[in-house]
Amino acid sequence: MKGIILAGGKGSRLYPMTKAVSKPLIPIYDKPMVYYPLTVLLMSGCDEIMLITAPPDVEAYQRLLGDGSQFGVHIRYGIQYVARGIADAFLIAEDFIAGEPCCLILGDNLFYGSDLDDLLHVASQRREGATIFGYPVKNPTAYGVVEFDENNNVLSIEEKPQRPRSKYAVPGLYFYDGDAVALAKTLTPSARGELEITDLNRLYLEDDRLKVQLLGRGFAWLDTGTVESLMDA
Ligand code: DAU
Repeated sequence: MKGIILAGGKGSRLYPMTKAVSKPLIPIYDKPMVYYPLTVLLMSGCDEIMLITAPPDVEAYQRLLGDGSQFGVHIRYGIQYVARGIADAFLIAEDFIAGEPCCLILGDNLFYGSDLDDLLHVASQRREGATIFGYPVKNPTAYGVVEFDENNNVLSIEEKPQRPRSKYAVPGLYFYDGDAVALAKTLTPSARGELEITDLNRLYLEDDRLKVQLLGRGFAWLDTGTVESLMDA
């Protein structure tokens, strides 16, 4: 399976920490943040990985991760010239993905839990449709929010809704079948001017091909978007 780490964006909520350094390069305890999402891709069985970042930061990532051989994988680099949204990753990585299934992870999302291996295995083995995750949070309005029935069938997915239909945020980890690029090409920018990953997921939902896996007790998802959440991580 192909893997993508999206590590662009300005990280402006963390200024001045991220003024001269791409956010996923700053340390969480004893490693650069990007090591954590990279580990998730390795655990998911990705052996070909594309890291997408902004033009000034490519060199720093190349210095850190090289061609990936130190991790037993191939890493190549994609450039996002303008932060056009998370789903833009599929347009940038079209040739790299080459119609295969792929996993996308955000460079600032950390996952920790004893059964992470099993969850990733199940998601990466599905060959049809898309798999997202659901994690209970106190402030769902800050995230993509998924609503589902007792059998974990997705009923709705909304980006930063004012009135969330559930307390389950959608973390920045997504598994797709080979249709993701073609579907991403049909997206139009949202009100905030971005190609939204939630809109891509909604296309899968409308086609009845979106699954959610819940990250429950004993599991931690850490989004390092703010100084407080960075400290928590
Ligand atoms: O963290 C999970 C959340 O990430 C999801 O619940 C939301 O559905 C999803 O839209 C996203 O929400 P944010 O609005 O908080 O994402 P943000 O703009 O902070 O970007 C997340 C990461 O992706 C960040 O590290 C920068 C990177 N990024 C973002 C954009 C828009 C890029 O590399 N390029 C981009 O164009």
